[in-house]
Parts: sequence; structure tokens; C-alpha cells
Amino acid sequence: MHDFMSVNNERHLVMGGCDMAQVAQKYGTPLYVMDENVIRANCRVYKNAIDTCYSGNGLILYASKALCNLETVRIVASEGLGIDVVSGGELYTALRAGMDVSKICMHGNNKTRAELEMAISSGVGRIVVDNLFELDQIDAIAAEHGVRQKVLFRIKPGIDAHTHNFVMTGQIDSRFGFALETGEARAAILRAFKCNSICVAGVHCHIGSQIFEADPFEEAARVLMRFIAEIRDESGVELTELNLGGGFGVVYTPEDDPIEFGDYIEAVSRIVKTAAVEHSLKMPFIMMEPGRSIVAEAGITLYTVGAIKDIPEVRRYVTVDGGIGDNPRYILYGSKYAALIANKADAEVTQSVTIAGKCCESGDLIGENMPLADVSIGDILALLTTGAYNYSMSSNYNRNLRPAMVMVKDGRDRLVMKRETYEDIIRNDV
Ligand code: LLP
Repeated sequence: MHDFMSVNNERHLVMGGCDMAQVAQKYGTPLYVMDENVIRANCRVYKNAIDTCYSGNGLILYASKALCNLETVRIVASEGLGIDVVSGGELYTALRAGMDVSKICMHGNNKTRAELEMAISSGVGRIVVDNLFELDQIDAIAAEHGVRQKVLFRIKPGIDAHTHNFVMTGQIDSRFGFALETGEARAAILRAFKCNSICVAGVHCHIGSQIFEADPFEEAARVLMRFIAEIRDESGVELTELNLGGGFGVVYTPEDDPIEFGDYIEAVSRIVKTAAVEHSLKMPFIMMEPGRSIVAEAGITLYTVGAIKDIPEVRRYVTVDGGIGDNPRYILYGSKYAALIANKADAEVTQSVTIAGKCCESGDLIGENMPLADVSIGDILALLTTGAYNYSMSSNYNRNLRPAMVMVKDGRDRLVMKRETYEDIIRNDV
């Protein structure tokens, strides 16, 4: 378990000062539970790093694709963070939660015209341009609204971050952004300088997700600073903003060993400062877009254990009342998780099991070969580190209801997302 969790006298798992077996009883399962103080502490690590490494000349944008709902946005906003949104839905949530529009950064590799209109008309601080078709649309829409839209350019720096293929985005064969090697990025920026309703502020890159080493981030910073110098040498214009994306790794199982976020940021800041001196550039305004590392470890999912099936010499299936509908990450990426039994949280591990969901789909697994204590029907299983990319990637497959979400803090629990109802399930049917 993570170090902010504990076990009480009844042997129950405690998070945010609350007994997780009681919380499961009160709200039902499956249930997402988030620890507010952990989210806040993570926001502060990033914010302090900007203050100490860049003298406060920067902004942390929470990548809301990791977990987007009103309360999470309110929490990160109250910590002074901005937000990265990638769709009209995320933008709408951010606006409704009261996020300062100047701190909203709009992403996406195929933003629709309606999404661009919504972003520009609501006055978002920055749009990250992915392609030339989009550049022309932004220029036209901004002109219609009589504004100059600040933009950054998404660059593929040609870096191979060592992570899962599906979440690797910095290499040339990626559908996100402009390539450096081919001159595509340079040509796009020179073209944007001629657009009357566009203000080119800087460049952006995001090299991948769940990355454990500082080197690929350092290399990306070095490449982009060199690129800013090249653009200045060619055009005389010095770009002033550098957005280094997200991707910092977290601990899902004891095998995961990422370096501290603060250490990544310090290592990268040394590269940016050295490059600024080397190329005679002013220190750019720095942005970073952590998603997973803000919310993943702060979240758990509670399930009730149902049937347990032994297939002799093969495996033991422990089934739970959720599955790929609330967590599709094992079926998608083979992602590993750690589980414990919330109502006997100090019990020794005695076996290795396959945890399966309730969907009509053989692949509906939460994980295989998972170490677990003795488990019985009716136990509450806690799956750890589910705060990122679980709810946000959830579905109603088999017309199962999406779970509720509860926030815990200082011994209090509060509902932040209601459990769906059968009425919700048919709401849009005509
Ligand atoms: N910025 C950009 C432009 C991104 O594309 C992403 C993630 C982030 C920031 C945040 O990255 P993070 O700090 O969360 O690693 N569904 C996958 C992860 C996909 C990440 C996509 N982009 C998963 O469940 O592992």
C-alpha cells in the first residue's frame, strides 16, 4: 500500500482518515475513492518546483484527460494550477468548474471546428496547434471574433521514450504534431508568423506517458531550446514559451521505481538554463502537463468479491462487481496493479490470482498473477493507483453503470460523482 494509507484496529484499510470498508458499505461498490490531500500535495510539488527551479516563471497545467470532473478541476484550480483540455467536454467541465480561462490550454490532434470555436470564443489562454489545417481554422475563427489567439506548436522532437507503444508520442511516426527532422515544424511556424490573428508564443512537446527516467525529458528540452534558437536565427523572432508536456511515471506495483517529480523538474531545468546561455536566449516561460502523477496514486477502486472459481492446475479466478467498464487498462495495455482486501488489509499474501470483471468478454480482467491474501465472497477488494485513466476511460459496456466517486479528506467522505442509474443508461435513447 502507499505510505499515506494505513490499517486500523479493525484491520480495515484507511485512506484520508476514512475506513474504506465503511465507505464501501455506505456508498456501495464498485466505487472510486480519491484522497484529496494527496492530490493537493502532488499539485504543490509541481508548483514549488516551478517556483524554485524557474523563479516562478511558469505554469503547471493539469492534464485533465487523467481524471476530469468538476471537483477535481476545482481542487487543482484552488492550488493555482492551470489545465490541459483535449476536447469540448473537458473544456466545458473546466469552464463550469470556474477554471481561469487564461490558464486553459487546448490540445487535440483533430479538434473540430466547433471545439475551436468554443475555445476561442471562451478566451482560452493557449491553443496547441497540431497541423496546418488547424492553423488556418484558428486564424479564421480568431479573425471572426476579432482576437489574436495565442498558440504553441506541438513538435515531435524525435525521441524514443521507453514506455508502452500506445502511449509513446515523441517519435517521428506519431500522429501528434509537426516533425523536426523534415523541416515541417520550421515551415509551419514561419507560416504562422504571417497569420494576422495568430500570436505564436512557443513550442510544445509530449514524449509519452509513465516514463521513469529523466533523460528523455532532458533530451526533449535540449532539442526544443535548440529549435527556438534556430527559429530566432532564421526569422529574428524569439519564441518565449516552452511547454514540456507530461508523462512522469507513478508507482502501480512495488516493481515501479520512478524518480521523484521534483527531481525530474530540477534535472530538466538545468538543461533549459544551460541551453538558454549557450544559445543566448531569454529563459522561456515554462509549462508542464502532468496528469497521471497528480491523481493516479491518490485513487483506489473498491469492489465486492463475487464468485471464486478454481481451475485446477490453471488458475483461480476472483470475480468482482466491476471490470473493463471502470478500468480498461489491463485489456488495453497489460497494465499491472496491486490489490489488497480492504476489510483485512494487514493479511499476508498467500496466493496468486486472476481478478476478473463481470462483462461478457473473456478479456475482462483487472490483472493476472496478482499476489493476494486469502479472499472470500463478500470481501471488499481495493485496487490501488486507479486515480488516473480509470474513470476517464470508463464505459457503459454491457449497460453496466459507471461507479460513483467519493473524495476523502481528514476523516470525512463526500460524494463527488453520483453512481449512474438505469435512467441514465437510457437517457439518450429515443
Ligand atoms: N500532455 C499531453 C499532450 C498528453 O498527450 C498527455 C497524455 C499528457 C500531457 C499527460 O500525460 P501523463 O502525465 O498523464 O502521463 N490512457 C493512457 C495514457 C495516455 C496518455 C495520453 N496523453 C493510460 O491509461 O496509461
